[in-house]
Amino acid sequence: MYKRSPAPEKNGSINTVGLEFIMKTLDADLSDYRKAIGNAFEASQSHVFRWWNEISKQEKKHLLHQIATMDFPFIHNLFMNKSLCKTQPDTRTAGLQLTPPNVIPVPVNDQEKISALEARRIGEESLRKGEIAVLTVAGGDGTRLGIGKPKGMLSVAPLSGKSIFQLHAEKIYTMQKKFRVTIPWYLMTSETNDFATREFFRVMHFFGLDPKQVHFFVQRMLPVIDLHGNLLMNSKANIIMSPNGHGGTITALKEKGILSNMKENGIKNIFYHQVDNVLVRMVDPVFIGYHLKNRSEISLKSVKKHHPEEKVGVIGYINGKLHIIEYSELSHADMYAQNADGSLKYNAANTAIHLMNTDFLEHICQDGTKLPYHAAKKKVTYLNAAGEIIAPKENNAVKFECFIFDILKHVKRGIVMEVLREDEFSPLKNTEGDNSPVTVVRDINNLFGKWLRNAGIPIPVDAQGNVIGSIEIGAAYAIDEEMLRNKIDKGLRFSGTLNLQAP
Ligand code: UTP
Repeated sequence: MYKRSPAPEKNGSINTVGLEFIMKTLDADLSDYRKAIGNAFEASQSHVFRWWNEISKQEKKHLLHQIATMDFPFIHNLFMNKSLCKTQPDTRTAGLQLTPPNVIPVPVNDQEKISALEARRIGEESLRKGEIAVLTVAGGDGTRLGIGKPKGMLSVAPLSGKSIFQLHAEKIYTMQKKFRVTIPWYLMTSETNDFATREFFRVMHFFGLDPKQVHFFVQRMLPVIDLHGNLLMNSKANIIMSPNGHGGTITALKEKGILSNMKENGIKNIFYHQVDNVLVRMVDPVFIGYHLKNRSEISLKSVKKHHPEEKVGVIGYINGKLHIIEYSELSHADMYAQNADGSLKYNAANTAIHLMNTDFLEHICQDGTKLPYHAAKKKVTYLNAAGEIIAPKENNAVKFECFIFDILKHVKRGIVMEVLREDEFSPLKNTEGDNSPVTVVRDINNLFGKWLRNAGIPIPVDAQGNVIGSIEIGAAYAIDEEMLRNKIDKGLRFSGTLNLQAP
């Protein structure tokens, strides 16, 4: 039973076209869609046929195809499951046994440095054996950025203007050259951005990588619904769909046969990261080493929080199990809790850089484990009953997404390794303010400035510590500080711009 009464709309009655009429006038070659049409009516979603008489045959086909992919009882259940729709703080951690995680620290003392070196040796060995693949999740809509194209295509490099995809590709290229292996690269896209992403790679000649090592796969989509449970449309023949969250990776890996393909090719662990982190240290050997040494199923990289209210997920144990607690789900008391030395108790911010063991993932998939859906209220531009485009000022819609970190519930062995934010984490999320194009370019400049300074080249900074000028160091020239130190001309003097690229 999942019948609902459609919600009344501002612009008067709901002038849907009747089921009988649609069935009677349906072209013979669309008759396979009869069942799907019936399902939409049965689920009280008949308003999607409101403009049936106005749309072309091609558009009808598109609309019917969308309807046919929908599991209406499932969508209804998602909407009705209020426990998935919690949005206020204090819903999750209050009353739960939350404790801070054990974190492998950024090495400072000799013992930590020795331990990191040992981890690096183990990680490098695994890389050399070709056991590591890269998985980049790039299926998000990038709504906050609102650029209408895949985020990875954005030009971010301060001098060359290279795109985020290119920066990632060059890091992979350099690492595989260093370890004399091929590092397979898997990119998750969505139906919305898959074509543009593939085209970009094709036009850019895969940034020098072998096209056979780059694998795109598309995640599932779900409809966006209004606050009454109705499907929303943004044109007379298009239902608004949205990718099912980065947690959709797990199902997609299984469904598309990628996991078995990886395993057949000897991939033991996946280096997972989000496309929008421009500073990601690709296939970091130290991280891989710790992951292997601890026989970890899933490993996480963390950075210290900027301030208690920073909108970032924090890592902790709930009832003894690793969890990532979203900023909106951390109770006020836990958000401000301090250690005896005054530092924040829950200070390990999630960078969404993970290592995932392929045996573990396969086990999860075989078990039929499904990640839960989270409901998020959003402002979504839509077509009202009068056929007008409305850009709402208040939240008017619900999107459903799975989060990759919910997999942690199933993890028996997991580790957390802390790294410096300035070295490895600068995501592009917003048009301005934090995590915006300005901060991303600033952070790239600052990282390269730090490498140069540590190599003995003076680099001027302003009162905030930001580099005055623009610096770019291509991954093929130097992928890290150590590589730079070994090849830089110590007599080099910075004159305001410096672009070091391999010839
Ligand atoms: P975000 O949660 O930041 O979403 O995704 P987004 O789509 O990039 O931006 P907004 O929230 O719409 O403004 C973090 C990472 O997860 C990927 C994104 O591409 C990004 O790398 N992602 C997100 C997916 O691959 N699929 C999704 O369904 C959602």
